[in-house]
Amino acid sequence: METVVSGIRSTGKLHLGNYYGALSNFVKMQNEYNCFFFIADLHSLTTHPTPQDLQATVRNVVVEYLAAGIDPEKSTIYVQSDVPEVAELYLYMNMNAYMGELERSTSFKDKVRSNPDNVNAGLLTYPVLMACDILIHHGTKVPVGKDQEQHLEMTRTFANRFNHLYNTAYFQEAFAFSYSEKLVKVPGLSGQGKMGKSNGEADCIYLSDSPEVIRKKIMRAVSDAGPTAPNQTKPEAVQNLFDLMKVVSTADTLTHFDDLYNSCAIRYGDFKKQLAEDMVLATEPVRSRILEIEKDDAYIQKVLKMGAEKAQASAQKTIKEVREIMGLKRLY
Ligand code: TYM
Repeated sequence: METVVSGIRSTGKLHLGNYYGALSNFVKMQNEYNCFFFIADLHSLTTHPTPQDLQATVRNVVVEYLAAGIDPEKSTIYVQSDVPEVAELYLYMNMNAYMGELERSTSFKDKVRSNPDNVNAGLLTYPVLMACDILIHHGTKVPVGKDQEQHLEMTRTFANRFNHLYNTAYFQEAFAFSYSEKLVKVPGLSGQGKMGKSNGEADCIYLSDSPEVIRKKIMRAVSDAGPTAPNQTKPEAVQNLFDLMKVVSTADTLTHFDDLYNSCAIRYGDFKKQLAEDMVLATEPVRSRILEIEKDDAYIQKVLKMGAEKAQASAQKTIKEVREIMGLKRLY
């Protein structure tokens, strides 16, 4: 059976981008594959969260994984730092990751631009750690959003290079996976780019947002003054709202508003009201489970203990084999 590995950074609450880009695929995949889903708390350290914040956000992401429908009996859910073998593999793989290729990564360049005061080595080698998350369990399918495609390409490069260097076929290639024919990119509400916390709180609809908050955020989302000629190309902010509608509404609803836009008869107030109601409908079941699960400390602890044990068993086997391949053998 093929192995699936994927993670989400522990940077706080999960938004609709995480949900439709990754989580909804996780939920579907657990019936068909051997799945490992983890909370990437080591990756989060690149931004230096306080210890209290880090713990709270890890717990939050676990709760939201479970609320979204990941079943701890079918899948392995764990916290990345509970499996120190990942950090060990990261050390080994860093030896054959080159500065030039790491510096050229789009996500690194973006981070340098947005955060010039914190260009740390962890940021540079972020893709190596991500590759190790996948390779440690021999993952071949990785459910992620479009933004992670380049990281998957780098994962394949590191795996192939290791194989070549040690004349082995030990690591397999891993590929990004989505149930929809294309990888998903969920746009944000601020008028540009993908939904993400780095664009500000108002850019994101969180799975834990109440219906009132969702309605408020959608009504305030950036649009424009409206079309002035039939069949006009939509500006990015408006196209983004239509793309969001494509994600949460029915095809009929989308066509209805598209026709109104194309005939210059659209009223953004009605359009946004419909979008908000469809978002409330899409998120409400997850939100109500979040409210239930977050109260249940004993359940969360049980899930994570079970997950850490399963993930460690898999990781320890890989580390033993990798050490042997590399010649790290005890002489006593
Ligand atoms: P992260 O935490 O930024 O995002 C988690 C997942 O959500 C997807 N995603 C989106 N998809 C569509 N539209 C959006 N607006 C959007 N925003 C986020 C991401 O593609 C991702 O699948 N590096 C990873 C975490 C990670 C990982 C891994 C993933 C660490 N190790 C190993 C897979 C395998 C990240 O930062 O995701």
